[in-house]
Amino acid sequence: DGLNTRAVAAGKKYFGTEISTYVMSDSAANEIAKNSEDFGQYTCENEMKFDALEPSQNTFKYDGADQIVAQAEANGQIMRCHNLVWHSQVPSWVSNGGFDNATLIEIMQNHIANVVGHYKGKCYAWDVVNEALNEDGTYRSSDSVWGRTIGPAFIPMAFAAAAEADPDAKLYYNDYNCDKPGAKATGALGLVKMVQEYGAPIHGFGMQGHMTVGQVGDASQYVENMQAFTALGIDVAYTELDISTSSNDFEQQATDYATIVSACQQVEACVGITTWGFTDKYTWINNGAPLMWDQSLQKKPAYDAILNGW
Ligand code: XIL
Repeated sequence: DGLNTRAVAAGKKYFGTEISTYVMSDSAANEIAKNSEDFGQYTCENEMKFDALEPSQNTFKYDGADQIVAQAEANGQIMRCHNLVWHSQVPSWVSNGGFDNATLIEIMQNHIANVVGHYKGKCYAWDVVNEALNEDGTYRSSDSVWGRTIGPAFIPMAFAAAAEADPDAKLYYNDYNCDKPGAKATGALGLVKMVQEYGAPIHGFGMQGHMTVGQVGDASQYVENMQAFTALGIDVAYTELDISTSSNDFEQQATDYATIVSACQQVEACVGITTWGFTDKYTWINNGAPLMWDQSLQKKPAYDAILNGW
């Protein structure tokens, strides 16, 4: 019995975690990650990002990501693969290359064909495009080499390329601060429609879900937000959930995790929840203690709240 088995019993596909080769080298932490009763799915923290996989042009380095995929396969865990096209963690040969529109499109398509081809059949889902929107819901441009050079057209092109390389993977748009209705979530709805109108497949919207304790509120606003996306005929998932507390308020944190679990439970096409790590020993958030195991790898109240939240 665990976080994943409870989610599956509730009709979901998985409960999962982000993991890295760094965490895998800590054997006590990795024992927790390997338990498929708690985690039925992995996302690589950095190992599948553009700069990790294609550090120089057309030279692909799969060793780190392959280690994670191998551990998932050994334990019967599925992969959400993250990510193909993002403005961040792009190698300098791309961002400073001075490529024109046509060349950058080729670079993007070549990256997708290679990477998605390498993992063909091994990724339940791909985050095809990550964080393409500004906070006001407009397309990110000045701070993205993709948006700046190609324009928003890179988005449907990326989905089309991913579909060609692995027709069975679920293709997601993934972003943060889109958990509740608002300008950015409206922008994401428009982005999904734009991909659909272009004629490329898009199967899901990933809500990263980086949240703050005490600001989560009740489940209804999350349910309402997810329903706007599922009305477009796509799945939704929480892909990078973590809930930070600057004051070690672990009881409220537990309540807030349960709220998100309940929201996902209320929406049939919410297929699963992934937390961005599982222990406060290894989190990208400084001083936020956002996860379900503490720095000594002991369970916090959030663990039981998620377990019993379905
Ligand atoms: C983060 C990683 O956790 C860090 O190790 C890295 O330095 C920066 O990226 N949104 C995403 C993730 O989609 O890929 C980010 O991961 C967190 C925010």
